[in-house]
Amino acid sequence: MTDTEPTLSPSSFPKDFLWGAATSAYQIEGAWDEDGKGESNWDRWSHTPGKIKGGGSGDVAVDHYHRWPEDVALMQQLGLNAYRFSIAWSRLQPDGRGPLNPKGIAFYDRLIDALLAAGITPFVTLCHYDIPQALEDRGGWVNRQITDWFADYAAAMVRQYGDRVRYWMPINEPICISDSHYGDTIEPPGLGDPQAEALAVHHLLLAHSKAQRAIKSIGGDRHQVGPVNCLYPIQPYRGPALDGGSRNVALRTGFDTGVKTSQAPVSEDELAEAVRIADNKINRRWLDPLYFGRYPEGLWQQRGYWPVIEEGDMDVIAGRPDFLGVNYYNRIVVRPVYKDGRLTYTTVSPAEMGLPYTSMGWEVYPQGLYELLTRLRRDYADPVVTITENGLAYDDPVAPDGAVHDDTRIDFIRRHLAQVGRLLGEGLHIMGYFVWTLMDNFEWEAGWGQRFGLIRVDYKTLERTVKDSGWWYRDLIAQAKK
Ligand code: FCB
Repeated sequence: MTDTEPTLSPSSFPKDFLWGAATSAYQIEGAWDEDGKGESNWDRWSHTPGKIKGGGSGDVAVDHYHRWPEDVALMQQLGLNAYRFSIAWSRLQPDGRGPLNPKGIAFYDRLIDALLAAGITPFVTLCHYDIPQALEDRGGWVNRQITDWFADYAAAMVRQYGDRVRYWMPINEPICISDSHYGDTIEPPGLGDPQAEALAVHHLLLAHSKAQRAIKSIGGDRHQVGPVNCLYPIQPYRGPALDGGSRNVALRTGFDTGVKTSQAPVSEDELAEAVRIADNKINRRWLDPLYFGRYPEGLWQQRGYWPVIEEGDMDVIAGRPDFLGVNYYNRIVVRPVYKDGRLTYTTVSPAEMGLPYTSMGWEVYPQGLYELLTRLRRDYADPVVTITENGLAYDDPVAPDGAVHDDTRIDFIRRHLAQVGRLLGEGLHIMGYFVWTLMDNFEWEAGWGQRFGLIRVDYKTLERTVKDSGWWYRDLIAQAKK
């Protein structure tokens, strides 16, 4: 910790601050084909050999589908007053369209009721990457029709749960869907097709806004709807020359352009242009359409691929969100490279820069949360923000008595929350903070190797043990509420 960092003080948080933890359906529920659930894109992908590191799947995950009463009791023990989870679309509408599955409805009914009884406000994500395979077979997010299917599903959810749920997040991290699922080959269906990526971007934004409109028109204005994006401060690399080949060691995100080149000297103008291009792609591609009704200037020209934008689409997409969900993990450092004679960027990993990073390969950079949120305040007219994810993967040591002394995680959360306290002190509107994640779980294509939880899960017995970080969080929440 450097001496310029703020210190964490529980009294910097308002009494109604939301202290939460987040999860997602595919990563925790299991019961992948039980009680009428349909196959999802992630079921299909994890059942395809070679797609998941170590060969795991979410078939059983951490069995939350059956153990939810214990999990809600644990949340209550930790003193959480908010919980962000996602609904598995394929559990509610096995084919993505048509009648709802009664047993799927009943599962989330019970969960929501138990949360409310425990004094925990539900924050519901409608799509956290998983969609019914039947829709993927029809093109998934590349097919424009999904925007209406998704809005119908959102309408059904608000009809079903809107009497008890007020906070809705239609789509988690659309960049991961467009870029990693369609533009890249690492997540289902793994098309590796930049044209499909461009189409998916536009459909994801349109689907978000159509869902928002459906929720509001059915549920009324007491419903709060927010997009959730992973957003990053983007900074230029000014360090010593690097070996152009060893570009990126980070798992999952990074949103690199995949360009490897030898390191040539670069000018300040080229550096600034690389930052601008990365910022357009990673941050502004998602926010500008929602806040200003347009894509960043030059975005599609730079990419060389265009979505199909029908008349009126941008008016549907535009509309100030009720709150902005921010998933913050790290910053992105870029340097300029040339691809086919055109300037673009590549990312420089913390490993290459000799900086501290987590077991995902992501840099630990708490002040980035401050930099990012002050930038959002400036550029998007002081939005109401919820930090919908923040946390780290770390190979937690298990002591001989079974306890988990995860001081590294405590330090990480403390330093990020200290920045939140600082931002609140400067008058930013931050509703709450959700740790990623409540309990260790299945980390997508990275499989079972990455433990992010406040609660340890023994993957053989599925036994839950609160880690030191969980108890630390409980104590902090208790002090802040005093
Ligand atoms: C985010 C995802 C979440 C989890 C964390 C580590 O990008 O939303 O499901 O994978 O990263």
